[in-house]
Amino acid sequence: MAEGSARPDRNLAIELVRTTEYAALACSRWIGRGEKESADGAAVDAMRLMLDTVSMDGRVVIGEGEKDEAPMLYNGESIGDGSPPQVDIAVDPLEGTELCAKGLPNAIATIALSERGTMFDPGPCVYMLKMATSRDMADLLDPDRPLPETLKLMAKRKGVGVGDLVVIMLDRPRHDEAMAEIRRAGARIRLIPHGDVSAALVAVTEGSPVDLLWGIGGTPEGVLAAAAIKCTGGTIVGRLWPRDEDERSAALEAGYDLDEVLDTNRLVSGDDVHFAATGVTDGEMLEGVHLVGPEGATTESISMRSRSGTVRTITARHDRAKLREITSQRVG
Ligand code: FBP
Repeated sequence: MAEGSARPDRNLAIELVRTTEYAALACSRWIGRGEKESADGAAVDAMRLMLDTVSMDGRVVIGEGEKDEAPMLYNGESIGDGSPPQVDIAVDPLEGTELCAKGLPNAIATIALSERGTMFDPGPCVYMLKMATSRDMADLLDPDRPLPETLKLMAKRKGVGVGDLVVIMLDRPRHDEAMAEIRRAGARIRLIPHGDVSAALVAVTEGSPVDLLWGIGGTPEGVLAAAAIKCTGGTIVGRLWPRDEDERSAALEAGYDLDEVLDTNRLVSGDDVHFAATGVTDGEMLEGVHLVGPEGATTESISMRSRSGTVRTITARHDRAKLREITSQRVG
């Protein structure tokens, strides 16, 4: 790595996996206990602790919220050991807090990093509309085109009927109209309670049983998904979606263009993006944390980098007693 360089040359995604593994292990003891704040707190503490070991000058762009509401991993916080490269960081130590609390599939611990100044800062915009699909249909996504038309184009490209297409979406009343429209068009819907980062990854994977992610979900999760998609290929496009007039005014005052179509490169414009995720509960993309005997555990993670396009799946076996000793934290 060149001294002072703004472009990370090391594969930081491999170092980042240790932070997601540790976050996943820490919150795994809260799986199914119905306490989502405790689960999230354990993941945040663990990821924060491990992040200090990563050699980087990181600035949290997508974090746990503003400084006065989040003691750790707050937006703007400096993390890493302070040495180059200078990078933007997006974290979600527990994506799917409720999935974890209820013992449901697809909760993950995740983090992404890219060159300083290259991650979209959502400011006051909590939600955005998102559409994501695989590389071979990427050019067909347009938030301004009626959904039934997009589905027809996708089916044609795939050489199947619209009835063979599967759209994954968050189960929310705000999606009722779109759900009816998709079903009227003949496509099928897979409803998920939470976790649209995992859902986006499934939708962009060629050959997966899901063709399209559609729906309004968290803007931070949209940036994380875009970082992953820069590494795997595929596309995400969308638009900010203010929840009410106050949010709309705040966004406009802060200079956001609410009509702008946000695509993968607008959400993360860097060309050296690193992404890591570890399964917390078993999911379609990753196995969750499995406890082995009184002190062991296994994890499954992905680590990827856009510049090389390498996607690694990493399985690890952990000794929870030793980790406890090293970190003085309860792990798993
Ligand atoms: P948390 O992990 O913060 O609970 O977020 C889970 C999630 O389902 C995201 O995957 C999604 O983008 C967002 O919440 C949707 O928000 P809401 O639950 O408010 O509709």
